[in-house]
Amino acid sequence: MAHTGHRVTLVDINEARVAGLERGELPIYEPGLEVLMAKGADRISFTTELAPMVREVDVLFVAVDTPQGEDGSANLSSVAAVAMGVGRALVGTCRERPLVVVNKSTVPVGSSDYVSMLIQEGAGEAEVDYRVVSNPEFLREGSAIYDSFFPERIVLGADQRDALDTMRALYEPIIEQAFPTELDPRPKSAVPFVTTDLASAEMIKYAANAFLATKISFINEIATICELVGADVSSVAYGMGLDERIGSRFLSAGIGWGGSCFPKDVAALRALAREYDHEPLLLDATVAVNERQRKRVVAKLQRELHTLKGKRVALLGLAFKPNTDDLREAPSMEIARCLDSRGARVVGYDPVAGKAAMKQFPSLKVTFDPYEALEGAHAAVVTTEWEEFRELDLDRATSLMKEPSLLVDGRNLLDPSDVRDAGLSYRGFGRG
Ligand code: UGA
Repeated sequence: MAHTGHRVTLVDINEARVAGLERGELPIYEPGLEVLMAKGADRISFTTELAPMVREVDVLFVAVDTPQGEDGSANLSSVAAVAMGVGRALVGTCRERPLVVVNKSTVPVGSSDYVSMLIQEGAGEAEVDYRVVSNPEFLREGSAIYDSFFPERIVLGADQRDALDTMRALYEPIIEQAFPTELDPRPKSAVPFVTTDLASAEMIKYAANAFLATKISFINEIATICELVGADVSSVAYGMGLDERIGSRFLSAGIGWGGSCFPKDVAALRALAREYDHEPLLLDATVAVNERQRKRVVAKLQRELHTLKGKRVALLGLAFKPNTDDLREAPSMEIARCLDSRGARVVGYDPVAGKAAMKQFPSLKVTFDPYEALEGAHAAVVTTEWEEFRELDLDRATSLMKEPSLLVDGRNLLDPSDVRDAGLSYRGFGRG
């Protein structure tokens, strides 16, 4: 936002986080973000006080957490706290234009009405001037900056025309791709600005994530069948993906999807459907296939190592995907727990998520060098497709590992013949 010409105030209730941000320290790892934040520093300020900010701004994005509750539904307590705070802060203010409150957090369908209600509740009897809109986020961790500047669409749900116009103006530099171009010199056409009602905007977010998760589970199902019949899922995915109706992206088979979004959003959508007495059969299967993929890793190890007790297994990559230090719902963590419970000695390596993994999983031995993890390992699993693993010195890996020197490629990242030529046995997913 700052880079496209706006002035931005970031509010967080966590004082330590705000103090860190003021010193230029980011609480997450995201490639390029630190540099971009520094560049925009004169347009960005930080605070822990919501009320003064609410009185000053034209648009307020609510981008707080909506964690998964026990029944899978999204917990809206953070959203509710902000909405009530906004309502209180609006009392007695005189505005030229209504405050536009943007739901950026992923919230169940119908939440915008709930937010409106809470803002009003926060304001009590006072008459306050605001609009609530829904603007779901589609960026991916690890490529957040690229996705923010070059989105494939901007979706906006609103009930009032004036709120829609404010949001259109706010996003104008992105829609028209009119901002400093050093980020990407490629000319781009205008970004589609999709306007709809609030419920549909909220639903687009869930439907998109559920579809992508289903696409991955679909190719993983095909991968398992490929293994049985001796076909190669990479060729199958390539051949399928050339059909534009299918598309080639998100057809990489492996240990399945994780992260802070797909698991939580698919669970929330299933919970929502059930609330209306609808059994979401396809979504149930999407989750079941994904859970099975992690078990298949353990089964592949067990088949070759026989007993897992006392065996050393190296996990190459801990983050749920490359270019992030995020471990939420990471397949690696679940695989580590499962191997640990069967008596294996698990050693993990990740270029950026190592420290976070040590905190989250104290019994996991974490190394800061991949070869240290491989030393004495009976088997290794590629759990995250970090680029550096493509360059792994396989001969060195072979010399360090112990028989049966098995490499389970959970991301189909390596060339099976290179691995075998180096003297390791190779097991991928759906590769014949
Ligand atoms: C996902 C969506 O892609 C974003 O559009 C959305 O904004 C975001 O969730 C969100 O709701 O906030 P993200 O979770 O950052 O983004 O990561 P993805 O790149 O979508 O990957 C999700 C998982 O699927 C990862 O574990 C990844 O390894 C796995 N994956 C992805 C596969 O197993 N195969 C594939 O072909 C692609």
